[in-house]
Amino acid sequence: MSTKSKDISTPNTEPLHNIGDLWNDFSQNTGFHGVNKLSGITNRHKIRLLLWTCFILSCGIYLIVTVVEEINNYYRYPTTMTQYTKPENEIEFPSVTVCNLNSLNKSAIKNDPRIDNYYFSISPFRGLLNITTNWSDPIYEQEGFYLNRTLEDVMTDEKHIIDPGGFLVYAIFHLSYLDVRKYFKVKLTYMGPCLTSNPDMKIKTNHAGSDFHLTLMLDLDNANNYYGRSFGEGLQFQVHDSKEDPIFDGNSGFYVEPGKEVFASVHRCNCLPYTHNRKYYRIISEQEVFGDEPDETKNKIRDSASGC
Ligand SMILES: *[C@@H]1O[C@H](CO)[C@@H](O)[C@H](O)[C@H]1NC(C)=O
Ligand SMILES: *[C@@H]1O[C@H](CO)[C@@H](O)[C@H](O)[C@H]1NC(C)=O
Ligand SMILES: *[C@@H]1O[C@H](CO)[C@@H](O)[C@H](O)[C@H]1NC(C)=O
Ligand SMILES: *[C@@H]1O[C@H](CO)[C@@H](O)[C@H](O)[C@H]1NC(C)=O
Repeated sequence: MSTKSKDISTPNTEPLHNIGDLWNDFSQNTGFHGVNKLSGITNRHKIRLLLWTCFILSCGIYLIVTVVEEINNYYRYPTTMTQYTKPENEIEFPSVTVCNLNSLNKSAIKNDPRIDNYYFSISPFRGLLNITTNWSDPIYEQEGFYLNRTLEDVMTDEKHIIDPGGFLVYAIFHLSYLDVRKYFKVKLTYMGPCLTSNPDMKIKTNHAGSDFHLTLMLDLDNANNYYGRSFGEGLQFQVHDSKEDPIFDGNSGFYVEPGKEVFASVHRCNCLPYTHNRKYYRIISEQEVFGDEPDETKNKIRDSASGC
């Protein structure tokens, strides 16, 4: 037993005299596979030794190249993207906002020159005459100009435009009547109360093309038009994404005269590709005289979305 253990431990304990011995010792004891074939300890053919050397060297080079490549790849912080196509059979119908350009109700305003002066001073023609309002006059207080009103109070007052008999007579979608109070709500703009198709109750459609989509019948009640014809009357329409706030800057949307029927179609266009996941609409409208009566006060819009 002692002789055996002496045999094995001999190479480790004896001092190593030269590089050859050191290599032989290392190649026989290392854990690297194949390295033991590279020592001259055994009587192997030189060709075999050469082949093993080539093989192990090329494996080593391959290992180093792979590791360097992986490290380089890691420090480039590559991004992995997965692209897929999701077919959508339905698209969300865009929101429609309608404003009456002349929403002041003559019957609801006291007939008094001082009150008229005030409304003139806030009208589009205010630049023509220099009219100042005498706020110390008690009539303004009597008429409720000084009431402390919150936004809720104003909204409550304006609710009537979606009430039956109000501004919005009916709304039809896919040839069936919509619950007006569910799908529309009042939106305040500087033009007064406007109607907007409710962004919380999204209307979806699976029809493309010129099918009947949204049809609105609107009653302008021209008899109660405070400013009258000279100040402009009619409707302004805006078709927009339900997440967007419509901007009425005078040129946006399209204008509908009283007594006209307007057909508007919406085209989705890729105006700004590669930006964000937003929809852009182009509105095309054409007007037609509606009805025979010259004092027809109703407006009608048919809005249709078309696929592209
Ligand atoms: C205007 O006011 C009168 C009287 O208050 C009312 O009958 C009419 O419906 C109102 N018109 C509109 C468009 O609100
Ligand atoms: C309008 O009239 C008031 C006096 O009534 C005057 O102080 C003011 O400068 C005038 N404004 C213009 C724009 O003429
Ligand atoms: C404004 O109205 C008050 C109360 O009616 C009156 O005393 C005052 O003279 C008026 N001021 C002007 C500039 O008209
Ligand atoms: C309106 O509110 C203000 C402050 O909240 C108060 O000073 C004023 O008296 C109120 N006016 C009326 C008419 O209630």
